[in-house]
Amino acid sequence: MGLPIRSKKLFIKTYGCQMNVYDSARMADVLAPLGYEMNDDPQASDLVVLNTCHIREKAAEKVYSELGRLRRFKEQRAGTDTPMLIAVAGCVAQAEGDALLARAPFVDIVVGPQTTHRLPELIARANRGAGAVLNTDFPADTKFDHLPPPRAAGPTAFLSIQEGCDKFCTFCVVPYTRGVEYSRPANAVIAEAKVLVTNGVREITLLGQNVNAYHGEPKSGSSPWSLARLINALAEIDGLDRIRYTTSHPRDMADDLIDAHATVPSLMPYLHLPVQSGSDRILEAMNRGHSRDTYRKIVDRLRSGRPDLALSSDFIVGFPGETDGDFYATMDLIAEVGFAQAYSFKYSARPGTPAADHPNQLPEEVKSARLSALQSLLTQQQTAFNAACLGQQFPVLLTGTGRHAGQMTGRSPYLQPVHVNASSDVIGTIVNAEIIGLGTNSLAGEIVDRARATHLTTSPLSRAVQH
Ligand code: 5AD
Ligand code: SF4
Repeated sequence: MGLPIRSKKLFIKTYGCQMNVYDSARMADVLAPLGYEMNDDPQASDLVVLNTCHIREKAAEKVYSELGRLRRFKEQRAGTDTPMLIAVAGCVAQAEGDALLARAPFVDIVVGPQTTHRLPELIARANRGAGAVLNTDFPADTKFDHLPPPRAAGPTAFLSIQEGCDKFCTFCVVPYTRGVEYSRPANAVIAEAKVLVTNGVREITLLGQNVNAYHGEPKSGSSPWSLARLINALAEIDGLDRIRYTTSHPRDMADDLIDAHATVPSLMPYLHLPVQSGSDRILEAMNRGHSRDTYRKIVDRLRSGRPDLALSSDFIVGFPGETDGDFYATMDLIAEVGFAQAYSFKYSARPGTPAADHPNQLPEEVKSARLSALQSLLTQQQTAFNAACLGQQFPVLLTGTGRHAGQMTGRSPYLQPVHVNASSDVIGTIVNAEIIGLGTNSLAGEIVDRARATHLTTSPLSRAVQH
C-alpha cells in the first residue's frame, strides 16, 4: 500500500475565454490525484496557477500585476516546510515563455495551453528545485489523450472539441499562441459528453477558437464529421437537453450547420458569431475572408430557419486606418442586424501580428470615443431585447443558488441569467418560467410549472428592435 497523499491547496485564477475556463477545470482534474484540492485563497495555497490570456495588452498586463502580489505571498512562505509554487499557464505563457521568466524570475512553472496535462511532471521537476521549468511545446500527441475523464460540477459544462486557428486575422495572436486548427475525434467527444450527462449535466457548450471549423474524424482514419453532424449525434444522447457552441467564424457557417439551427430542438437559439466590423474595407484589412453582405445573408438564413435566434458578436473599433465612415458602417450593421448581446474592444496592437506594424495606428481618444458610441448602441439593443422578454414564458435551466435567500438562478434559451424564487431542489431541472421583471443584466422569473416549455417562435429581438 502506498503512503497517503498529503492534501495540498490549489488556487487557479482564469483570465480570458471559455477555452481557458475549460482548461482550468481540466488542470484541477489532472492535479486531484496528487492531492491538490481547489480553494479560493491564493495566500494559503501550495500551488497557484494563473491561466492567462494574451488577446489584448490589458489582459496580458493584468497577469504581471497579479504576479507582483503573489510574489509577496511566496516570499512569506520561503524557508518553511510548505513553500508556494507559482505556475503561469495559457497564452501569455505560450507567447512570452523565457521573457516571462526574465520579467518574473520567481515563477516556478511556465506551461503553454497544449501541455497542461504535463503539469504533474512539471511540478515534480519544480519541487526538485533546479530552477524554473518551461514547457511551451506543441506536442504531436494531444493533451486530450492524457487528461482524465471530466468531473462534472453542476448541470452545465463546457466541452472542448477544437483548438487553434488557421484564419490569421491580422489583429489576432491566437494562431500563434494556440497553434493550427485541431479537431478532437468525434467518438472521444461523444464519450466525454456521455460521461458528463451521466454525472448530471443537462447543457453542454462545445468549445473551440473556431468551433464551426470542426472536422473531427469519428475514429482515426475515417472521413471527418462536420460540427452539424456532431451536434446531430450529441442530440441523440438521452438527458442532454441543451447544446450550444462557441466561438464561430462566419466563413465556416456551413449549410448543414445553418440547417441544424432549424431542425435540432436541443440546439439553443443563441449564437455568438463575431463580425468584428461592418466595413468591407476594414474586414479586408483584417483578413476576415467575409464581407458585410455575406454576414447579413448568413444571419437572414439562420433566422428564416429559427426565427427566435438571438445573436451575439465581437466588435473591434479603431483598427488601424479605420475612418469615421468605416466606423459608421459598423454602427449601421449593428442597427440592421440587432444583437441581443455583444463584446466590444478597442483595437490593441499585439506584437508579431501584421496589423501591429500598420503605419496608421489611431489615437487612443478616437478609439475611446468610438467604443463608447458603439457600446451605447449595443446596450440599447440588449436592454430592448431583455424588455421584450417581459411577460414571455421560457424554459429555464436552473443551475445554482442566487445571491438572496430563497433565490435560484439559471439560464434562458437565449443565455440570459434568470432568477426565480424556489427551493434548491429545482437546481438541475428545466422549469417553465414567466419573466416578470428586469434587472441590469438579468431577468426575474416566476415558475409557472416544472414541465418543459416550448421554445418561442418569434424572437423577442425582432419585436424589440426591428418592428
Ligand atoms: N485588439 C482588440 N480586440 C481583439 N480581439 C482579438 N484580438 C484583438 C486585438 N488585437 C477580440 C476580437 C475577438 C475577441 C475574442 O477578442 O473581437 O473576436
Ligand atoms: Fe483570432 Fe481570427 Fe482566428 Fe478568431 S478567427 S481566433 S479572431 S485569427
